[in-house]
Amino acid sequence: MKINLTVHGGAMGNNNIPTWPEYQSLKEKEKGSFLLDDSGVINSFLYSQQVSTELLDKLFSVTQHLQQFWHTKELRKYLSTLLVNKNCSLYFTQCSTRTFTSFSFAAKALGMSVEEVRDPELSALYKGESELDTVLVLASLSDLLVMRTMDGKVIERASYEFAKRGIKTKIINAGSGPDQHPTQALLELFTILSSLDIFSSENQYKVAFIGDLKRSRTVRSLSYLLALYPHIEHVFIAPDELQIGDDLTNYLDEKNIKYFKSSSLESQLLNCDVFYMMRMQDEYSETSEELRNMYKKYFLTTEMVDRMKDSACIIHPLPRRSELPIEIDCDRRAKYWKAVKNGLLVRVALILYMFGYDDVNKLKAMTYE
Ligand code: NCD
Repeated sequence: MKINLTVHGGAMGNNNIPTWPEYQSLKEKEKGSFLLDDSGVINSFLYSQQVSTELLDKLFSVTQHLQQFWHTKELRKYLSTLLVNKNCSLYFTQCSTRTFTSFSFAAKALGMSVEEVRDPELSALYKGESELDTVLVLASLSDLLVMRTMDGKVIERASYEFAKRGIKTKIINAGSGPDQHPTQALLELFTILSSLDIFSSENQYKVAFIGDLKRSRTVRSLSYLLALYPHIEHVFIAPDELQIGDDLTNYLDEKNIKYFKSSSLESQLLNCDVFYMMRMQDEYSETSEELRNMYKKYFLTTEMVDRMKDSACIIHPLPRRSELPIEIDCDRRAKYWKAVKNGLLVRVALILYMFGYDDVNKLKAMTYE
């Protein structure tokens, strides 16, 4: 008997990948070219800059179909057979409710076996194992690794090591410190599209991002994604201390995307089509009392919502604090609760795509009672 000693992911490795220091100096889109599988499908999804308009069309048409038939037994039964031979590990060492739960439901809806690591004190990190080794262990046992970490570099390093070592396990970034949260951007864009035809270049749209923009990964990821559309103008509304960083504005400059910064929310109420509210991201760095007081200028009130366009759309990634009072939830312009549900569906569509099951025509050919 011959025993096959090939370890999971193969021992082939990829000699074309640059060294780690070289890799780190690349732009996200360039890094993305190393994060594809053999058929050119995204194997590790870390940055919004990896997404093209073609991919968005594909993901959103599947999401739309899921939205229409999610309640049917026929669809759910079909989906539940697709990935029964796959394992998914949820490595969430930073807190999460929405993202964790929706990834867990998404993976289970596709039939995957799902395991979780949430508390580093209960993993071998406690014995002094490096975080990268813990992730490599999970890679050996899983076909998909969904990761959220306080230190964004951990996810980047893991995806680099997978590419370098020829490990086939897929990674999805579910929040890399203050850097990016690309699946949140996908679900928010899908939600915005359900109320505004923002892709139609006949209209010019203004999307306002309000609050702690400097430390917000969701703002960064959505802005990068919207930069695919030149007719969308980005409006960054924040106190100077929390304004968006140069890395993002340099990117928008490079792509010839219109944007401006403002410190006044009041002045933009009638001017913008989308209002993306943000809580203070004070887990990432010290925040003075003075800044906390100043932040109150970036809180929305029902009276301010009344002054917005009738067609406006209010988005918030949640969790919220006082910047978005509960009284606004029932306003027709509030879309953030819809977005939570959309998050589950967009994540199902993304996992389907990454495992090669994204043919919407197959879904459409099914018969539903
Ligand atoms: C956001 C996050 O974790 O970045 N939440 C989320 O994923 N829905 C926003 C936040 O924590 O403020």
